[in-house]
Amino acid sequence: METFASFAYLIASVCFIMALRGLSSPETARQGLMFGMVGMGIAIITTLMLPIVASYFWILLCIAIGGSIGATIAHKIEMTALPQLVAAFHSLVGLAAVFVAVSAFYNPEAYHIGVFGDIHTGSLIEMSLGAAIGAVTFTGSIIAWGKLQGTISGKPVTFAGQHQLNAGLGLLMILLVILLCATNATFYMWAIIAVALALGILMIIPIGGADMPVIVSMLNSYSGWAAAGIGFTLQNNLLIITGALVGASGAILSYIMCKGMNRSFLNVLLGGFGGEQAAGGGGDTGDKNAKIGAADDAAYIMKNASSVIIVPGYGMAVAQAQHALREMADILKKEGVTVRYAIHPVAGRMPGHMNVLLAEANVPYDEVLELEDINRDFAQTDVVYVIGANDITNPAAKNDSTSPIYGMPVLDVEKSKTVLFVKRSLGSGYAGIDNPLFYQDHTLMLLGDAKKMTEDIVKALEE
Ligand code: TAP
Repeated sequence: METFASFAYLIASVCFIMALRGLSSPETARQGLMFGMVGMGIAIITTLMLPIVASYFWILLCIAIGGSIGATIAHKIEMTALPQLVAAFHSLVGLAAVFVAVSAFYNPEAYHIGVFGDIHTGSLIEMSLGAAIGAVTFTGSIIAWGKLQGTISGKPVTFAGQHQLNAGLGLLMILLVILLCATNATFYMWAIIAVALALGILMIIPIGGADMPVIVSMLNSYSGWAAAGIGFTLQNNLLIITGALVGASGAILSYIMCKGMNRSFLNVLLGGFGGEQAAGGGGDTGDKNAKIGAADDAAYIMKNASSVIIVPGYGMAVAQAQHALREMADILKKEGVTVRYAIHPVAGRMPGHMNVLLAEANVPYDEVLELEDINRDFAQTDVVYVIGANDITNPAAKNDSTSPIYGMPVLDVEKSKTVLFVKRSLGSGYAGIDNPLFYQDHTLMLLGDAKKMTEDIVKALEE
């Protein structure tokens, strides 16, 4: 049985690697998900067949309850609420790691790691790390969920000596792990968990609500390492491999997101950015007279263009305007206009946010181009239709060294002949700064909800 299980776990691991590979592109994402589901199916069935499984009743009951809750939530969830859902699910991974560590601590014989009061030192280190990372992930993810959901204020909560306190708690935790290994005392196990729970809260409260996606991906990475730690305790190779895959991919994703925003990971972790709207720092906005247009004007301009680039942003996701947008693009294409989409790496509020929404509306993948592949083309483009995007187009990132987004790569939309901006006001976006593009001569502001405005343009085009 052991050889069979090892072989089946190997196949499941390969499936998980193929899943990650598939998920790296919208074209192969569905295939990636299939690999993930097959891998997980093999992993669950193999684990259920292991001789250590004494009774199926509780396991199947829990799978049925958890599976039904998961399926219901996945069915109902809005795309815009995905980041908080992911955060909520991570908190459960963290809690599971704590439970496994505690159960191994109280019943070590079942895991062949010694007897209660005399557990092997290596196992104590593994389980205390698993419990600590799991507890940080649990409370940290709950705070992240609250900030994203709006249950807790998105404002960074900061106080004097905060970073020193966090560093002190981190050191205390290391000391407690050493004491646990030296004494096997129950008190230290619970003290590690208590300190880690507090650290999870303290680490996440100073971070602004809009930086949460980076933090969610970081917590995702933590949950992976917690699972890997528990995998050592349970002597389960698949859990070690899967945990390491989740840990590493989460860390890489956090790095990519920080790079896209041109911020260091430390800068995000130290917090204080992206809470409520910051003022100024948006470069010269001139005499602040914006030209306001209507759907008819936009339809006329686009119909007479030979090329249009659509730049979607967070507002498109909020308005759920992707279907209307595709309809608009279809009509323009029928009129002989070349239509493409430009995707900024941090458009929206989660990685791949725009790609997912456009794929949902069946926008052909070959029309969707990444920043580095399309940025040079704006200069030869007639019209750019910026829908619910703001910061990712703001030239202050290139020419205002005082701007909080200075250095972030942006889409060069201002180089096109006409820029149409669809948003509800002349207000700022996530970074809380003015966008000088709204006031340029070749910009027309289309003020209104992104979906409604695009639907009105579709009507005008049809007429
Ligand atoms: P933002 O700069 O946040 O701009 C979105 C704009 O959409 C807002 O200015 C808002 O203006 C408009 N809007 C909101 N609801 C709308 C609606 N129903 N209809 C029409 N417009 C609407 O978004 P962006 O350009 O996509 O840039 C993303 C920002 O988020 C970047 O600063 C990035 O660093 C940050 N960020 C991204 C991520 C990831 S991974 N994507 C993670 C963390 C932070 P009005 O209020 O005037 O309508």
